[in-house]
Amino acid sequence: MAVLPLVIAPDPRLKVACRPVAAVDDRIRTLMADMLETMYAEDGIGLAAPQVGREERVIVIDVAGRDDPPNPVKLANPEVVWTSDELRTQEEGCLSLPEHYAEVTRPDRVRIRYLDENGERREIEAEGLLATCLQHEIDHLDGVLFVDHISALKRNIILRKLTKIKKQQEAA
Ligand code: NI
Repeated sequence: MAVLPLVIAPDPRLKVACRPVAAVDDRIRTLMADMLETMYAEDGIGLAAPQVGREERVIVIDVAGRDDPPNPVKLANPEVVWTSDELRTQEEGCLSLPEHYAEVTRPDRVRIRYLDENGERREIEAEGLLATCLQHEIDHLDGVLFVDHISALKRNIILRKLTKIKKQQEAA
């Protein structure tokens, strides 16, 4: 396993629609394992393949609390097949937008269809933080970031700050 370098916004690689995984093979299983290792190393609760520069429909998630045993979930080709009418608002962050947070409102419960790491078709119903996290990561596969759910004013403030940091790093 390996910790992969993260793609930080703004970056065109975070704005693409990723292609479906044709088969969950060893190549995809390695990607899933590396993504989990990267996510844990960065203290994240979810990570999508475009965040490590891969245009593939793969996400990993672990919303277990700090004191709980790890509970990793690896998903290929995840699809939202149902959402509740009830909404919930959560302060979201993203490893690709470091140190920026904003409240985002999404459906409170979702049903997701996906392929697991053995290529088996599965469905899960999730609520609360896990539901939010699944929607956030699936958004990434279509080039959508959490800041795309907030006002253009707030989004532009965050993206301008990130652009400035990138320019400073390039100049250093
Ligand atoms: Ni994210």
